[in-house]
Amino acid sequence: MFGFWKTWKALEARGIMGINRRNADYVLKYNKRSLYPIVDDKIITKERALAAGIHVPEMYGVISTEKEIDKLDEIIGGRSDFVIKPAQGAGGDGILVVADRFEGRYRTVSGKIISHEEIEHQISSILTGLYSLGGHRDRALIEYRVVPDQIFKSISYEGVPDIRIIVLMGYPVMAMLRLPTRQSGGKANLHQGAIGVGVDLATGLTLRGTWLNNIITKHPDTTNAVDGVQLPNWDGFMKLAAGCYELCGLGYIGVDMVLDQEKGPLILELNARPGLNIQIANDCGLTLRTHAVEARLEELKTAGVTETPEERVKFVQEMFGHIPPVEG
Ligand SMILES: Nc1ncnc2c1ncn2[C@@H]1O[C@H](COP(=O)(O)OP(=O)(O)O)[C@@H](O)[C@H]1O
Ligand SMILES: [Mg+2]
Repeated sequence: MFGFWKTWKALEARGIMGINRRNADYVLKYNKRSLYPIVDDKIITKERALAAGIHVPEMYGVISTEKEIDKLDEIIGGRSDFVIKPAQGAGGDGILVVADRFEGRYRTVSGKIISHEEIEHQISSILTGLYSLGGHRDRALIEYRVVPDQIFKSISYEGVPDIRIIVLMGYPVMAMLRLPTRQSGGKANLHQGAIGVGVDLATGLTLRGTWLNNIITKHPDTTNAVDGVQLPNWDGFMKLAAGCYELCGLGYIGVDMVLDQEKGPLILELNARPGLNIQIANDCGLTLRTHAVEARLEELKTAGVTETPEERVKFVQEMFGHIPPVEG
C-alpha cells in the first residue's frame, strides 16, 4: 500500500489525474447526460456499433423478464460456449463466461461446474438489478464467447485479456492491456484482480505492469514477462478507439476492445467514467496528455478545421508515443 502511495505521489508532479478533476473537467464537461444510455447499456452500445459497421461479439439473445428465462435453451441453441452478462453491469460483476458443457451441466472459463438452474438463477439476479448501476431493473444479454488470439497465451491466465484506450474528443490519450489472472476468474477487470499493463501508443509495445496496486514485471500465474510484448494490429485498435467518438458522441470515454482468434478486433464496451489506474501502468499522468489534446482542439477550432480518426491517431502517436523501455 505504501509503495502504491509513493508511486501516486511521484506521479502527481507529472500531471496525474485524480477522481475530482476527472469528474469535473472531463466526465461532466465532455459527456452529455442524454447520451449516457448509449454506453451504460451494453445492448444499446452493440446496436450502435453494428449500425456504424463496427465489429462486436455477436448477440445471441436478450432476456428482459422472468418469464423470458424459459427462452434460455432456445437462445443458447446447441452451443457449448457463450457469455451471459448484465446489460448495465460494470467492473466485471455478474458476468458468466461459459466455456464448455459437461455431463448435462456447464463449465465456466475458470473451471467451475454449474447447472442450468444456477444459470437461470443468475439471470434472475441480473433482472432484479443486483449488478446494475443504481440497482435499477436490468436485462441479461447472451453473446458470443470471445476466444483470445494466441499471442496472449503466455501472458494471460484463462479468460480474455482486453485493451482499454482512453479517448478524449476522438483522440486516444492512453492505453492499457488488461490480463486476467487466476484471481480475476477469467475477467480482465482490475478490481477483480486482473493485471494492467501500459501500452506505447505509437508502437503497441507493452510497458510495465501493475497488479493489485503494485508494480510487477511478470505474470503471477504464467511467470512470463508482461513488458516488451508487441500487440498485433495496433494501428487498427487505435483507429477503432478513435472512431468510437463518432459512434457515441461522448467526448471522454474508455473503449474496451478484445482480439478474437478468428474475428479480429472487437469492441466489448464503452465507459463514460473510465478508471484512473491506467496512469500507474503507464507511469504517466493523464492531464499532461489531455491538456495537449485540448490545446490541439483550440488550435484546430481557430483554424476552422477538424481531423479524421486517422489524423487524430497520427497526432497522438507523434505526441505521446515512442516511450523508451522501462529500466531495471
Ligand atoms: N463475450 C465475451 N467473451 C469472453 N470474455 C468476455 C466476454 N465479455 C466479457 N468478457 C470478460 O469479462 C470482462 C468484463 O466484460 P465487460 O463487457 O467489459 O463488462 P464490465 O462492464 O463489467 O467491465 C472482459 O474484460 C472480459 O475479460
Ligand atoms: Mg469492462
